Amino acid sequence: MKIRIRTLIPVLLALPVTIMAGTLAADELAEREQAARQASGEFVKQLGAALKKALAEGGPEAAIGVCRDIAPQITGKISRENGWRMTRVSSKVRNPLLGMPDAWEQKGLSDFELRAGQGEKYPDMVISKVVEESGVRYYRFMKPIPAQPLCLICHGSDEQLPEGVKAELASNYPMDRARGYRVGELRGAVSIKQPMGIPLQAPSRQVDLP
Ligand code: HEC
Repeated sequence: MKIRIRTLIPVLLALPVTIMAGTLAADELAEREQAARQASGEFVKQLGAALKKALAEGGPEAAIGVCRDIAPQITGKISRENGWRMTRVSSKVRNPLLGMPDAWEQKGLSDFELRAGQGEKYPDMVISKVVEESGVRYYRFMKPIPAQPLCLICHGSDEQLPEGVKAELASNYPMDRARGYRVGELRGAVSIKQPMGIPLQAPSRQVDLP
């Protein structure tokens, strides 16, 4: 009897520790997800506002600079400040350098489309996970970017694209595949990748834009 209790002691002692470790990990995941949700929401909102402003003030050709220059400026700034890699990815890219998805992101994009086919709405979806790649643990996050009516000025069908935009795209993006979208379709996703070794700065920090 004595022996049995003795053998049980380490198990009993280890139990709360295991439970605590589980809780800690879950909290950390929740905090990282909250930060990722906030930053990506802010990014999409600011980019949309900048696009609308540029379209109103300078027309479609002037607005090209927003999706081309402002978007990577914002994601670049957020990435540097947080020790993340934040980017926009798509399965049909205009700029392969910034937009080409890796295998995990490609699977995420397909999953989003699958879930949409089952009735889920893009604004309600995220993927938030810790994944191990070549022995390194990363926090990874993706949020869908659905196509809105104003996006089709530059990502719609050939008939929808103004002549000036077509000419700009033809000279700057001869390999462009980011066209032919319809409203509500999945244009791409915001993707965040963060080594778990890098601590989260502050879960609810304000995103300062450039
Ligand atoms: C005035 C033209 C224009 C409008 C309007 C526009 N885009 Fe873009 N978009 C571009 C250009 C140009 C690029 C390529 C940027 C680059 O060189 O990195 C791009 C790239 C992207 C990318 C990155 C992936 C890729 O294909 O390279 C996403 C995602 C994207 N746009 C989504 C949107 C969404 C969503 C909207 C509407 C809210 C929108 N765009 C409206 C011109 C536009």
